[in-house]
Parts: sequence; C-alpha cells; structure tokens
Amino acid sequence: MRTSKSTKSNILKLLKTNKIISGEDIGKALGISRTAVWKHIQVLKNKGYKIKSTPKGYMLINNLDLLNEEELADLPYKIYYYKEITSTMDVAKKIAEKGEEALIIAEVQTRGKGRLGRIWHSPKGGIWMSLIVRPSLILKEAYLLTYIASLATALAIEKTSGIRVSLKWPNDVIYKKDKEEKKLAGILLEIKAEIDQINYAIIGVGINVNNKIGILESQAISLKEILGKEIKRKNIVMEFIKIFKNLLKSEAKEILNLWKNKNLTLGRKVKILHPEGEKIGLALNISDDGALILKTETDEILKIYSGDCIHLRPVL
Ligand code: BTN
Repeated sequence: MRTSKSTKSNILKLLKTNKIISGEDIGKALGISRTAVWKHIQVLKNKGYKIKSTPKGYMLINNLDLLNEEELADLPYKIYYYKEITSTMDVAKKIAEKGEEALIIAEVQTRGKGRLGRIWHSPKGGIWMSLIVRPSLILKEAYLLTYIASLATALAIEKTSGIRVSLKWPNDVIYKKDKEEKKLAGILLEIKAEIDQINYAIIGVGINVNNKIGILESQAISLKEILGKEIKRKNIVMEFIKIFKNLLKSEAKEILNLWKNKNLTLGRKVKILHPEGEKIGLALNISDDGALILKTETDEILKIYSGDCIHLRPVL
C-alpha cells in the first residue's frame, strides 16, 4: 500500500513534469480519488509549495528551494525537517537514541553549534543538517568519519557549483579568494560508543549557501557570494549523501589520500589551538590513525588528534 508521504512525493513528481495536470489525471496515475488529490495538494501548499488551480488543472508555479521530506524522498534516510530549531545536533541525539539512521535538516538554527564550543551562525538560506549513521567501524577508526564528511562536503560543493574548494585540518571546507582563505563549510562530529564499537555517529554539516554571512564572521564566505547568484541547496544535499555513502565503503588509505589531495594544511607552518595549550610547527602529514603530525620549532614530533588549526604565513 502507498503511504501518504510517497503519494505527496508522486504528486509533486507529476506536477514537476507537467505544465498543467488535472486532478483527474493525477488521481488516475496514482490510483486515488480527485478529492484525495485535492487534500494532498492543500497539504503541499501548507508545506510552502506554490500550486495554482486553473480550469485545466493544477500548476506548480515556482520551483522553490525546499529541503523537506518530499524533496528529499529519494534519499535512503528518514528525513526530519524543521523550519526552526535550536540545533539539528540536539534533535539528532534524541532520534539516534531510538535506534534510527536519519537526516535532520533545519531552515534556521537558533543555537547552532560549532566545534570547540563555538556558536555556529545559522540563518535562513544555508544547509544545516545532521546525519545519524551506524557505521561498522571500531572506535579506533571513528576519526575517519570527519575526513569522510569534510571530503564529501567539498566534493558535493564542487560537483554542484563548479567552483574549486580545499580542506583545512581537521575538517573545514575552504574557498581561496585572492590570497585569503575563507570558510565555506564546517563539520561537527559527535559519537556514542561502547567499549570498542561505535553505537552511532552524528555528523553535523553546516554549509554557507544562500545565507547572509554575519558581520562578525570575517573569515566566512557563502556560495552565493562566490557565484553572484543563488544555488539549489537540494542538489548539494543529495550529492553529499551519495558521496558520503560511497566513501564510507572505501579503504582508510584511499580516504586519507583523497583528503590529502585537497588539503591546504600539510607543508604549512601552523598554530594549533587546544584547551591544553598552543603548538606551533610544520604540518608534516596525517598519521594512519588520523592525527596531524607536527614538527615543532624545537624539532619535536607531535601527534595532534584534535584542536583548531590556524595557517601561519610565511610558509616554512
Ligand atoms: C565548525 O565549527 O566548523 C562546525 C560547524 C558545524 C555546524 C553544523 S550546522 C548543522 C549542525 N547543527 C549544529 O548545531 N552544528 C552543525
């Protein structure tokens, strides 16, 4: 039996492929009555779709950039869509505890979370989402998820916008504007694990797409600012999920090599900010267990597993 969710998605598919289509034709195609079609159309209108009723039938006026359950119905995850919530990470945690894999998306986050306890500015127009996954990785391999997520974000942006982006350790997506490095997207990873096995991982992805950048965010940039026009967020989300799922099946070595090919950190003089103190040195490599290998000014070799990285000039 068809669920209402797939009926609405199917009505939308018909509206998108036909300029005008009658309630009768939609009903025939989906095996439902004209009254049922009408009811579904009212729900779709309430979800933000602009559907005009003409004497010849229904017409979808505007192909809006919506990220709701209907638009993302082809994804292999249950979609939880919110107009406004505190943070998709908070909602994801509750859903993950119920044992589901799911994608949580919000148009606006009122208390978006960044790494290291920072606030993540999340106004209308960006992609603010958290993906709950239950990968068959052992705890020691969990580091791979941030590399996979930042790589998938970068590749999805490149595929859908045509621009070239880079990665900064540990997981920022960077756009180089003239000589400046501007942050286009960031990843936040939260993991629940037992003894050695990952129970679930929540991958928070924030991408500045069509949103306004706050006046205090001098280091950030949006895709709209780069391209001079708005871009469809749906395509980026779909592409991200596709690439993410493929990378999840790849070997650790391959993932790290792909990440290294797009990174701006290795070979640079960097400052690592960490609650336990600052370290300055040359970023040499990424170790097999995901750490940044740093050679300090006193020739000490350190393995850094977390922290914030600032690229220093000049290059050593
Ligand atoms: C960073 O500091 O670079 C990570 C930013 C992560 C932001 C995303 S937006 C969706 C998800 N929900 C949040 O509250 N944060 C993450």
